[in-house]
Amino acid sequence: MTKRVAILISGGGSNMVALAKSMTGDHPARPCVVVSNVPHVKGLERAEVLGIPAVCVDHRPFGADRAAFERALHETVEGYAPDIICLAGFMRILTGAFVGKWAGRMLNIHPSLLPNYKGLNTHARAIEAGDAEAGCTVHEVTPELDDGPILGQARVPIIPGDTPETLAARILPLEHQLYPEVLHRFASGDRTPMLLS
Ligand code: GRF
Repeated sequence: MTKRVAILISGGGSNMVALAKSMTGDHPARPCVVVSNVPHVKGLERAEVLGIPAVCVDHRPFGADRAAFERALHETVEGYAPDIICLAGFMRILTGAFVGKWAGRMLNIHPSLLPNYKGLNTHARAIEAGDAEAGCTVHEVTPELDDGPILGQARVPIIPGDTPETLAARILPLEHQLYPEVLHRFASGDRTPMLLS
């Protein structure tokens, strides 16, 4: 049966577009909703253009009450009955209360070669450390930040003179290839880690 995929974003949504566009033909999944925690972002417009329901659950009115925000997010997402949630540039940390409800059904893309550089400013940290390589990782989401079983990675060399911006520009197109490929495999029941070649 076709799987339903909810995609959570906070901004431009370029990974969301890559995921949504990949789910055609004999792909085992289809997008069912795009949810942003930030109002009026480009990604919501892009989802509408693609004909996908696009909704916002603004985190700000909830202030410090993370649990209440997550309950609202969960209710909204659940209303679209997804089988899989893809975090795609979703910039809120989700607690175990939310993550636990979607255990084994939620993926994230992170712009580093995990387990290296969890958290923010990944490209700057890789350059600063003098690493030879950087990249991106798709992984299952567990309550620990940017942790969870790795499903796929893509690698690029770091070249002399790279800045966080040049590195990000080299890695983003790979994110757009890796995430759809991993989602396709995941939706087909294949959780073995892959390396994008
Ligand atoms: C991507 O680099 C993603 O890995 C990171 O945030 C960025 C989101 O970009 N978590 P977009 O919203 O998909 O264009």
